[in-house]
Amino acid sequence: MGFGKLRWAVLLLPYFLPLGYSSANAVETRSWDESYALSHKVVSQMTVDEKVGVLTGVTFAKSKCNGDTHPVSRLGIPALCFKDGPAGVQPSKSVTGFPAGINAASTFSRTLMRKRGEAIGRELKGKGVNTWYGPSIDIMRNPKGGRGWEAFGPDPYLNSEGGYETIMGVQGVGVQACAKHLAANNQEHNRYNLSVTLDDRAMWEVYGYPYIRSIKEADLSSVMCSFNRINGTFTCSHPKLLANDGFLRSNGFKGFVVSDYGATHGTAAEIANAGMEMEQPGEFDPLVNGGGVFTEGGLKNSVLNGTVSNERLDEMAVRVLAPWYRLRQDVDYPPIDHAANVRSEEHTALAKEIASASAVLLKNAPRNSNSSSLTPGRHFGLPILRSEIKEMAIIGEDAKQPDLSLCNELVECTNGTLAVGWGSGGNSLEFLVAPADAITSYVGDSATIATSLSNDATAGAAAAANKDVAFVFVNARSGEWIQNIVHDQGGDRNDLELFYEGRQLIERVAAVCNNTIVVVHSVGPVFMPWSTHPNITAIVYAGVPGEQSGPSIVDVLYGNYNPSGRLPFSIADTEEAYGTQIVYDRTIGPLTLNYTEGLFLDYRYMEEHGISPRFEYGFGLSYTTFSYGSLDIRSNGSSKSVTFSIRNTGGVDGTEIPQLYLGFPEGSGEPKKVLRGFSDVAVRVDEIKNVTMTLTELDMSVWDVTTQQWTVPSGEFKVYIGASVKDIRLTGSF
Ligand SMILES: *[C@@H]1O[C@H](CO)[C@@H](O)[C@H](O)[C@H]1NC(C)=O
Ligand SMILES: *[C@@H]1O[C@H](CO)[C@@H](O)[C@H](O)[C@H]1NC(C)=O
Ligand SMILES: *[C@@H]1O[C@H](CO)[C@@H](O)[C@H](O)[C@H]1NC(C)=O
Ligand SMILES: *[C@@H]1O[C@H](CO)[C@@H](O)[C@H](O)[C@H]1NC(C)=O
Ligand SMILES: *[C@@H]1O[C@H](CO)[C@@H](O)[C@H](O)[C@H]1NC(C)=O
Ligand SMILES: *[C@@H]1O[C@H](CO)[C@@H](O)[C@H](O)[C@H]1NC(C)=O
Ligand SMILES: *[C@@H]1O[C@H](CO)[C@@H](O)[C@H](O)[C@H]1NC(C)=O
Ligand SMILES: *[C@@H]1O[C@H](CO)[C@@H](O)[C@H](O)[C@H]1NC(C)=O
Ligand SMILES: *[C@@H]1O[C@H](CO)[C@@H](O)[C@H](O)[C@H]1NC(C)=O
Ligand SMILES: *[C@@H]1O[C@H](CO)[C@@H](O)[C@H](O)[C@H]1NC(C)=O
Repeated sequence: MGFGKLRWAVLLLPYFLPLGYSSANAVETRSWDESYALSHKVVSQMTVDEKVGVLTGVTFAKSKCNGDTHPVSRLGIPALCFKDGPAGVQPSKSVTGFPAGINAASTFSRTLMRKRGEAIGRELKGKGVNTWYGPSIDIMRNPKGGRGWEAFGPDPYLNSEGGYETIMGVQGVGVQACAKHLAANNQEHNRYNLSVTLDDRAMWEVYGYPYIRSIKEADLSSVMCSFNRINGTFTCSHPKLLANDGFLRSNGFKGFVVSDYGATHGTAAEIANAGMEMEQPGEFDPLVNGGGVFTEGGLKNSVLNGTVSNERLDEMAVRVLAPWYRLRQDVDYPPIDHAANVRSEEHTALAKEIASASAVLLKNAPRNSNSSSLTPGRHFGLPILRSEIKEMAIIGEDAKQPDLSLCNELVECTNGTLAVGWGSGGNSLEFLVAPADAITSYVGDSATIATSLSNDATAGAAAAANKDVAFVFVNARSGEWIQNIVHDQGGDRNDLELFYEGRQLIERVAAVCNNTIVVVHSVGPVFMPWSTHPNITAIVYAGVPGEQSGPSIVDVLYGNYNPSGRLPFSIADTEEAYGTQIVYDRTIGPLTLNYTEGLFLDYRYMEEHGISPRFEYGFGLSYTTFSYGSLDIRSNGSSKSVTFSIRNTGGVDGTEIPQLYLGFPEGSGEPKKVLRGFSDVAVRVDEIKNVTMTLTELDMSVWDVTTQQWTVPSGEFKVYIGASVKDIRLTGSF
């Protein structure tokens, strides 16, 4: 073998030492009952003006944060500070630029998702922020959707688990989370006026699904209603979503609903009575053609003339303050301090660990040193052995440090390496370390390095010719809004091609270097027709990894971190393979989108239509191999307990991501396979570990539109345990 076990065991050691965090920051919460009682008590002493103040933003310009409410100082109620996310604290200085939601998703690690939430929560609290506009649990309905990277991909279960862990982390340290955007907010073009035709089953099983566990088990503090309409009605005035018998409240939601910025249309009475509680940022926005409905007398006069009852006004104010009491933000909460430096060594290390854990190894050369494709003494593919590489090249605009002075909230670094998408969900990249710099510093004088840090293919090929290895960095970007045009594209991507002729760059380099290693930074799937090129010996899909991009990719490329990331979406060869479209309508008119695909997104659509993607959902390689065995399925009350074993059969320690896909009974109308479980299991060489996954009643249920209830369909369920949706290793049934 090209590398020794011992050396690897040593290199991988840090990976098995969990980062030690004290739980000293954990808050002891009040019960909802106690919080509601306190909230009732204080609201009962408020005037109508004071109640309206608690329910409205002070306008964007006057806000000390990204929107805050009016204080009621005589009763000890401060202005509540709201701040953007969901990739960290944003906009802000002296904070950590964490990997985006889609990268948290590709770790398939609940532990890392939770730690990420806790760390973001600590940074928010250090700045005195009461409520974080995150996580995003918007479904990546189409891979080109501009904001898809903010959330956890196209699968509802992964969004549910990612959202749950993030909220547990953030709220665990005492900061309110605001899950967004309810609902069907899946493209940027025409987002202010489009209406989604969404059937009831897709609402409950796909777009609403990610909210349910966080409401029931994480005591979610707030929810943001979206810009778009569903079935013609704006979501912020949609009783089927917000009213006491609507989606949120019927699932037990006890927090409050806040509007996206300018997403309120119609009268204050329509909106308040439909179930929305808080309007932000508290003014009309001509661009959105909405907002400012509660302010300037709208809500107050509606109460005075009786179109909004006093009871409803009280209910609204009580719901806004209840999470504040529940998380004890009324006791010694840090004051707003935007200058506070909330970075720490632990957070930097965690940002780097999550970025490494989210990197997906899509291709790797066989590492048998007797393989005919190998020249004796030279190593192909990954991991790179420093001792064997004397001459190397680093190629591509995407390897380079961007000019951070050109990056701002709305256009997040159009050039240089891609670390996060743009828009309100962007990130602080004040401390970004680019791949070229991190590799150069790691390599030291062990090799000579030729660089060509642009996408000029001729220059790239010249740098790569005859080198022992050429790293090619390429990217594809997207973000919020359609007004920012980057590479001829606004918000939603125009296509699934790499930016700046990245494809030509890769092909020209691969034509002259037989050890070409491609690293893709992207907001989502990109076409990879070059993946089978014989000179491309390895491909790493690194997503949007945040500020520790460079150091995290060094660890993966050089084997200090054994890759365990898995694709949280499929990478197909055509747009048609995804079964949905973006409608590029730039008008503000009433566009209607019919989500005719229902439950069939991404792998669910591809499996139904016999489409084989290039790299399937859940796929990712490791520097070791794993075998699966001993599947055992038992009933445990109304749940099922699924146990199996995993063995590390390769030469180095590593982490496997087993996935459980459920096959519902015939006739249930469900996709062939539905993700319902996953785990990250660290297994040492030759070790066998048992893994148990639980299928709850909800996991086995479908939404019955007639009875309006979750129902376990009768018939045979199939259980598929696999290393991806297609690489099924064990099958059982019950
Ligand atoms: C939208 O309309 C469809 C078809 O009438 C209905 O099944 C569904 O419940 C409606 N959804 C909402 C959120 O109103
Ligand atoms: C009540 O007040 C609101 C806000 O000013 C106004 O839009 C509405 O027309 C009024 N309704 C009645 C019945 O007076
Ligand atoms: C590689 O070749 C050497 C020498 O011919 C041989 O001893 C060894 O068994 C081979 N290893 C593998 C894995 O085929
Ligand atoms: C960004 O990089 C691309 C590819 O190297 C280049 O074509 C473009 O001119 C650059 N844009 C700016 C604003 O520097
Ligand atoms: C790979 O390229 C290197 C450098 O150009 C060359 O020395 C070597 O013979 C090539 N090996 C193969 C297997 O093509
Ligand atoms: C692979 O790289 C070598 C140079 O090392 C080159 O001669 C060969 O043509 C390349 N193969 C392909 C298919 O481009
Ligand atoms: C939506 O489009 C309709 C028709 O063009 C227009 O009357 C309405 O004002 C638009 N609504 C918003 C919020 O822009
Ligand atoms: C939306 O598509 C579904 C499925 O094709 C169809 O049954 C329904 O009539 C469509 N709704 C509208 C409003 O066009
Ligand atoms: C059975 O369910 C109970 C309650 O959910 C749980 O505590 C227990 O660990 C489960 N047992 C097995 C074997 O999964
Ligand atoms: C794993 O499960 C098998 C079968 O139930 C059992 O024999 C074995 O002891 C378990 N191993 C561990 C490490 O728990």
